[in-house]
Amino acid sequence: MSSIFQKKWLNGWHLFFGVSLPISLMMFVPISNFDSVTGAEISSMISFSVRWAVPFIYLVVAISSLKIIFPGAFTRWLMRNRKYIGLMFAVAMAWQGLFIFIMSYYFHDYYFSEIYYFRDEIEGSIGYIFLAAMVVTSFDFGRKLVDSKQWRIIHKSGIYFLWAYPFSVYWWTISYYGNPLMIDYLFYWFGFFAFLTRIVAWATHRNKKISKKTVIDAFAGSTLIAFGLSLSVLSLYWQNSITQTLTSFSWSSTLELWLPFWPFEPFLSLMIIGLGTMILTKENTKKVNAEIVNQE
Ligand code: HEM
Repeated sequence: MSSIFQKKWLNGWHLFFGVSLPISLMMFVPISNFDSVTGAEISSMISFSVRWAVPFIYLVVAISSLKIIFPGAFTRWLMRNRKYIGLMFAVAMAWQGLFIFIMSYYFHDYYFSEIYYFRDEIEGSIGYIFLAAMVVTSFDFGRKLVDSKQWRIIHKSGIYFLWAYPFSVYWWTISYYGNPLMIDYLFYWFGFFAFLTRIVAWATHRNKKISKKTVIDAFAGSTLIAFGLSLSVLSLYWQNSITQTLTSFSWSSTLELWLPFWPFEPFLSLMIIGLGTMILTKENTKKVNAEIVNQE
């Protein structure tokens, strides 16, 4: 089984073209069914194209953690091809970019009356700036333009931002709007688990350094994790009250108008799970220090 992951056609540029060409061809399926091209049709193409992109960014977020949690041929293959999977995301996003351009250029009125919202515009533009910087610095000529620290900053923040954008879109769809589709749930949960793998991998790494945790740490950590998990399932029931509370101050409601993702409701459950994990895997410094002294 592991030898299949070594095949030439399943790796590198072969894999990239083998996936991104069919995705590009898929764009013509809805287009060929249009009777006329209107703003609404282009808007549907924006959604259609980005749905092909989202799974790849989720996968990119999860790959390095999957390798830690499930070491094996498959996760090694994912890790080897991480760059190409990222570029597949970029191809589908380029289609979205093209439809956004068509919309804003040819259907200007529709765009400003039906779609334009300042904060979304800022979030989307930051997303595309990250995407462009990540693509350019994925090739040798672009890599030379930045040092290794800058490269890490661009790619780490870009990956998180480009994960956060669709994750929050689907979180709002299922937590605020009354009529989510199956695909909205699917993309919400896929995004949630992609990030959860990072928390689990982080916990695995911390656990190796740990001696024994206290009963209080174990209880507090597990309770927070259970609480975070329930929040992730029940967002429809708490979104409204939490949003109202978090934006009750005038400075907060002003920030909400332009600061991307503010006040971060979609990420609350994952933050709480992360906090619980931190407590659960807290280093017992007293014991570690005692061990160091004993060893000396
Ligand atoms: C300035 C840049 C951007 C603009 C103007 C824009 C515009 C749009 C529009 C018009 C829609 C369709 C809304 C509808 O039909 O209800 C949409 C949907 C969406 N966009 Fe963007 N977008 C931008 C950047 C991004 C970026 C960087 C991402 C990150 C991946 C992204 C992810 C999404 C997602 C996940 C959806 C929902 C798709 C669905 O219906 O399943 N967008 N966007």
